[in-house]
Amino acid sequence: MPFQGKTVVVVGATGVVGSGICRAFLDQGAFVVGVSRSAQKLEELKKTISVKPGEAFATAVGDFKDDTTSGRAMAAIDTALAGRPIDHVISSQGFVKFGPPPTQSTSAQLHDALDDGLTVNFQAAKALLPAIKQRPASFTMVSGGLAHMPPPDPAMWMGTLKNAAVNAFTYGLAAETARDHVRVNTVCIHFGVAPIGGKQNQFGLAADRDTKGLAPAFLAIARGKQKGQVICLNGWADVDTLAKS
Ligand SMILES: NC(=O)c1ccc[n+]([C@@H]2O[C@H](COP(=O)([O-])OP(=O)(O)OC[C@H]3O[C@@H](n4cnc5c(N)ncnc54)[C@H](OP(=O)(O)O)[C@@H]3O)[C@@H](O)[C@H]2O)c1
Repeated sequence: MPFQGKTVVVVGATGVVGSGICRAFLDQGAFVVGVSRSAQKLEELKKTISVKPGEAFATAVGDFKDDTTSGRAMAAIDTALAGRPIDHVISSQGFVKFGPPPTQSTSAQLHDALDDGLTVNFQAAKALLPAIKQRPASFTMVSGGLAHMPPPDPAMWMGTLKNAAVNAFTYGLAAETARDHVRVNTVCIHFGVAPIGGKQNQFGLAADRDTKGLAPAFLAIARGKQKGQVICLNGWADVDTLAKS
């Protein structure tokens, strides 16, 4: 079991992508801390990913929306860790906010979209990265292929902005950690991913595989050598290639 004895924190654990990641690291023997803003969603997650009695899954309720809530979230994670050092963090927070086209949106809508995608990753990095900088650890964020193109519908333009912002933030963290041991990367997913057992993602895009099919990409990055990269997955073949690396 490659991740036996390793500790993994998954922020956004209840999400489509995060849930598959939790299951995959548990299957590989890791101690997993799933983080969500909702205790109820964490209870539902245990059923969704079939956490077995005795399996090394702990939960922490927390919200990485601002400096104050982030401090509380980190305290909850520390309690769940019970002194274990962290080996890997995956921050898979937020999805895509829909709204009016750019010239018809308000500043509040713009800030909201960035808060739910960029700020939450920024806060997770501030809270979780310093302690693992000098460890052979990884910190992985998640974005989407909308970052690289005009969105198919103008209502999705804030998704383009948020994903591009997360990708750009990767490079900011990469510069800060260039001389450290920790490896910061972002997985930029260019296709639909379904929830466990599903056939389409949240906005009805057909998905060839569910999140358990995507998770091997995150296992590969955690055990791999990638550092400071935005890793674009253009299709499922890229997941398979990464998983074999
Ligand atoms: N699913 C896809 O088809 C797909 C495709 C390409 C890229 N992606 C990217 O993958 C990442 C995760 O997507 P996903 O499909 O897993 O989304 P999701 O199912 O909506 O999950 C995201 C999780 O983020 C957490 N979260 C924490 N703070 C949040 C906030 N302020 N606002 C909203 N959510 C917050 C939520 O957990 P709690 O409510 O429990 O706190 C939620 O479960 C995103 O960057 C997305 O763009 C997804």
